[in-house]
Amino acid sequence: MISAKRLKERIEKLSTISEAKEGFSGVTRRALTKEDKEAQLLVKSWMEEAGMHVRLDSAGNLIGRKEGLNIADKPIVIGSHIDSVENGGKFDGTIGVIGGIEVVQHMVEQGVKATRPLEVIAFCEEEGSRFQSGGLFGSQAMVGRISARDLDVQDRNGITRREALDRFGLNPNTVITDDVIRDHGDIALYLEMHIEQGPILESSGVPIGIVSHITGVTVFNIIIEGESNHAGTTPMNMRRDALAGACELKLALEKITNEYGTPAVSNVGRMEVFPGGVNIIPGKVTMSIDIRDVSKDRCEGILEKLKSFANEMSAKRGLAIQFIEKTRVQQAKCSEEVIAIAKSEAKNMNIKYLDMISGAGHDAQLIVNICDIGMIFVRSRGGSHNPDEVASIDDISLGTNLLYRVVLHYMR
Ligand code: HGY
Ligand code: MN
Ligand code: MN
Repeated sequence: MISAKRLKERIEKLSTISEAKEGFSGVTRRALTKEDKEAQLLVKSWMEEAGMHVRLDSAGNLIGRKEGLNIADKPIVIGSHIDSVENGGKFDGTIGVIGGIEVVQHMVEQGVKATRPLEVIAFCEEEGSRFQSGGLFGSQAMVGRISARDLDVQDRNGITRREALDRFGLNPNTVITDDVIRDHGDIALYLEMHIEQGPILESSGVPIGIVSHITGVTVFNIIIEGESNHAGTTPMNMRRDALAGACELKLALEKITNEYGTPAVSNVGRMEVFPGGVNIIPGKVTMSIDIRDVSKDRCEGILEKLKSFANEMSAKRGLAIQFIEKTRVQQAKCSEEVIAIAKSEAKNMNIKYLDMISGAGHDAQLIVNICDIGMIFVRSRGGSHNPDEVASIDDISLGTNLLYRVVLHYMR
């Protein structure tokens, strides 16, 4: 069996690397920061302990590689991320990287001669919590989806991604080159283990999920402009109140999403009001929208309905509304073959599992553009993207053992 003790120790150790923030009890580890650098050095040491050669590509993806007997064979890649949302949990992303290293280390300790190379990748900026542009940066770069324009996004301190890459010791001019980009055929198979982050496994009393689909993620920023004015002297019917417009948009998005029904979901996670004075009618509001569904058409349908609502509402309120695309990542289908193998290995291990759709986005849904993918979910509770996120080491060990057996299957 893989080492549950080592998994637990590493998850705990990694979770201690975080920005300290008043009132925050969770993990905050944003991409390309000093916390990310410290975390990458720690993970690099574990990858090396497992016998892997480690490199950092120009997009900030940390890549551990163990050669196989057949040098010419393409690698099996196990990946996820070690950056976090602000005030997040200690399991989101990390169990996929630490579990991948455990698989390699256990193979070496068992004397298993891997026929093909194995790679473990900690993708850069999966969460997007630093640049708020929808995340999945490192995996988008790996499949050639990043353009020079994407390097100009700024964080809340005005530092561009380009500068952040440079300060991290990387060459931003080679993000869009073969140092990062992989093509069809460069990877034999991509596997990702991740906590479920939702209530289904916990409420079913089942420890493992085998993922069939990952929902698409569409992220836009919306700018609503009206007119700042005196909150006391301006009659209600003469106001061009940007915040009133933003609130109408939020409620309209919720209504439209509910009309589409499950599995469609949407969210407004960020909203900034300008100028922000108690006695000033807001003249400008920026807000984020995040729309998800397993069908591209349904995602597009929700967005188009919101845009037409915005047109009518803006005319009525005298507002100007701009929709600015940040991320449009397609939904992804996991490989039927990998699903069947994972199910048969779960049965051999006498593990209960559920077929699942992932409502969360993952790097796997980018890598699917260049190879087959498989995802294993581990039961979690306490929600996610918050400090209360919890997964048991028993369930994480079960998931890691299942991941190990799926990898072995491809080593025959
Ligand atoms: O937003 C997501 O679904 C992922 O956690 N980045
Ligand atoms: Mn994640
Ligand atoms: Mn996440």
